Amino acid sequence: MQATCEAHPNIALVKYWGVRDPERALPFNSSLSVTLDRFRTRTTVRFDPSLKADRVVLNGTEAGPGPRDGVVRFLDRVRSTARVNAFADVDSDNNFPTATGLASSASGFAALAGAASAAAGLALSDRELSRLARFGSGSAARSVFGGFVEWRAGTRADGSDCYAVPLYPARHWPSLVDLVVLVEGAPVKAMRSSEAMQWTVRSSPQYARRQAELPARLAKIRRAIGARDPDRLFPLVMEECDSFREVCETTVPSLDYLTPTSRAVLAGVRELNRKAGRPVAAYTHDAGAHVHVFTLDRHLGRVRSRLAGIPGVERTLTVRPGPDLLFAPPRPGPGGRGRARSSGSR
Ligand code: ADP
Ligand code: DP6
Repeated sequence: MQATCEAHPNIALVKYWGVRDPERALPFNSSLSVTLDRFRTRTTVRFDPSLKADRVVLNGTEAGPGPRDGVVRFLDRVRSTARVNAFADVDSDNNFPTATGLASSASGFAALAGAASAAAGLALSDRELSRLARFGSGSAARSVFGGFVEWRAGTRADGSDCYAVPLYPARHWPSLVDLVVLVEGAPVKAMRSSEAMQWTVRSSPQYARRQAELPARLAKIRRAIGARDPDRLFPLVMEECDSFREVCETTVPSLDYLTPTSRAVLAGVRELNRKAGRPVAAYTHDAGAHVHVFTLDRHLGRVRSRLAGIPGVERTLTVRPGPDLLFAPPRPGPGGRGRARSSGSR
């Protein structure tokens, strides 16, 4: 009745922003992301019949009411599927900042999906884990897989065709780097993204146009990754990020996640590309102030030194595409490496 799982957050190159069915946690659009190697969540779940209530420890301290409720709701879903009545002890640790736009909810709920389902005795396939994880956080559906991942929105009303699929493994593009630019004073978010996005759906006059553009943009981004082509990929990544930011800023009331430093980083990347006469880097950000700058190993020096000179940049971390959800100890299966994928059932 105990299991431990590790999951990595992801950065979306095509953003999920808008829910068509909140009850079933179904998004309006498909999205595409890169799972990141350096950041991780490690979660242990133990169901214990002697407990009088769920106990949730997040980063070493008892979780506050909001984060605790999210975990308890998720446990309830697992308990009802597995027909388990016991309360649980949940201990989870993020080795990176929580709730500042680095997708702790993605790795947090992917790790919880793995650990809670295994502790409850459910042997879920990776696809089932992805379907389950999205009920905690939409972006968590993608963190079940390493490398480059697409979360298919699906069309069925029951959500049975809504899950993430691995597109390319982490080793697909070894020279691709994500410089994560941590900016000083990044505020802790007052509202979960899943709530903020519904304000955008209801009020941004640009939302419908963005939705119409997304399928073609996603297909082009998928192809550019497949071809390992930065000249095509980098401009598309920035176009998508600008489109996401536009619908956030035109939401009523406006959603502004960036600080002046974040905006200076975007401007710095544009300037680098202009001076190089071709795309050497691409910026993107999620709902938070930190910025991800994608580049290639051969441009790393010049990109890093351009960004380091920007006032308010706390530090830059070099991150690469990361691994699948990991079970510890390993689940039984071919190789028994503990990889979600080693279960052999997608
Ligand atoms: P982020 O950009 O970090 O995903 P959000 O505000 O969207 O920011 O999500 C943060 C929330 O996700 C936390 O307040 C908490 O409710 C949940 N969360 C983060 N880490 C974990 C974790 N390890 N286990 C369970 N829930 C988590
Ligand atoms: C901008 O699914 O992470 O990062 O669970 O409330 O945190 P919460 O929502 P979540 O929203 C993701 C929004 C995004 C884009 C993306 O990751 O696709």
